[in-house]
Amino acid sequence: MAEKQTDGKNSLSIRDNRTGRDYEIDIHEGDVISAMDLRQIKVEDDDFGMMSYDPAFKNTASTRSTVTYIDGANGVLQYRGYPIEQLAERSSFLEVAYLLLKGDLPDQDELDSFVHDVTFHTYVHENVIQLLEGFRYDAHAMGMLISSVAALSTFYPEAKEIEDPENRWIQIVRMVAKMPTLAAYAYRHHRGLPYVYPENELSYTANFLNMLFRIGVKEYKPNPVLERALDVLFILHADHEQNCSATTARVIGSAHADPFSAISGAMAALYGPLHGGANEAVLRMLERIGSVDNIPDFIEGVKNREERLMGFGHRVYKAYDPRASIIKRTADEVFEVTGRNRLLDIALELEKIALNEDFFVSRNLYPNVDFYSGLIYQSMGFPVEMFPVLFAIPRTVGWLAQWEEMLLDDEQKIARPRQVYVGQGERDYVPVGDRG
Ligand code: CMC
Repeated sequence: MAEKQTDGKNSLSIRDNRTGRDYEIDIHEGDVISAMDLRQIKVEDDDFGMMSYDPAFKNTASTRSTVTYIDGANGVLQYRGYPIEQLAERSSFLEVAYLLLKGDLPDQDELDSFVHDVTFHTYVHENVIQLLEGFRYDAHAMGMLISSVAALSTFYPEAKEIEDPENRWIQIVRMVAKMPTLAAYAYRHHRGLPYVYPENELSYTANFLNMLFRIGVKEYKPNPVLERALDVLFILHADHEQNCSATTARVIGSAHADPFSAISGAMAALYGPLHGGANEAVLRMLERIGSVDNIPDFIEGVKNREERLMGFGHRVYKAYDPRASIIKRTADEVFEVTGRNRLLDIALELEKIALNEDFFVSRNLYPNVDFYSGLIYQSMGFPVEMFPVLFAIPRTVGWLAQWEEMLLDDEQKIARPRQVYVGQGERDYVPVGDRG
């Protein structure tokens, strides 16, 4: 490769061949230019100016952020600088939640006080139960969760005071605390079971499992391996920088909507099968494939673009998703308790083939976080409709961290992309009877 000839400047020179004019644009942090710097490039003085076109934000940074770092080429994920592997191994979900929300790991007093606050905000207003009762018996749990989170904004109208840091923190604690309660209520409604109220002496995940699965016993003791496995899964799902749902939370929040509305919108984005709904789609796919013998046909279908291999591929990771490796290990621990999931062989064989077939290798398609998580959830007794809910509970922390970072960022304004209009030119209205 030819040696780079530089003049020592951290800038980009652009020549507009339409006009022959030259422009110099500053380069910031590594390889970033400001899209607004392009606006000075014009043919006529009264032109709008140059803009960039980037459907689906494939090459556009929408923010500076200090929350989560991903190096997609090397499979690196860090929350506030801490490697995900260390957090999954040594931390707890609520400690990680504090880290994401506050920027640093808590000391013991800070952690105790956060855990206490989250534990004592787990109850929801009884009217929320009536709201859930209005859903059909077979309503999808995500639809119920999205609606009940949106409804919480009406129970806490002061949440719209988003300029007040203390008020923001109360709403953040409320949301982290109440999400498992709402999720468990949606599940109990689906099963036609009486609602179980939160138990404040249990851990975050043990309380959630108690509200979900306790039937006819006074004290419910979740298996500690399953309780810890769920905690690890929650850590792995807590944030993932500017993904579709985090961007949704930021966009809604940029209009200064209250956080409950912003988070319910983010949750709706997560529900899609290309995002957090993929864990449910993976399980349905594995069930449909049914046996290892049917995999070659299925893979042919993927290569012929008749379907997608759900749980594979990622916009940012072009290597193995580090979360998928940890989940694979966690699955082994869970299966020791629950017995081996019968779909595991299909998943392992799919992965083996995909990691060797040119179609997948050439497109950098590796298992993502959703490929193995569903097998764990299923073995723990969750129905598939609950899988995206199990993603939404921990991701609420990430959305809230992203939402607050956006609010405190002086560079942010109401999100409002431009478009390139390619529709009709101006034309005159013709009354319906006169139209040919
Ligand atoms: N199965 C088959 N082909 C795929 C897949 C897949 N899962 N994912 C991507 N491709 C192909 C795609 O057809 C395209 O091929 P070509 O260049 O020949 O047209 C190429 O790979 C690039 O794909 P893309 O759709 O342009 O990539 P993207 O960055 O827009 O999409 C994705 C990323 C995650 C939506 C996509 O990989 C996908 O649909 N995966 C399956 C759904 C899934 O598992 N989603 C969970 C993502 S991880 C958790 C989360 O973010 O919530």
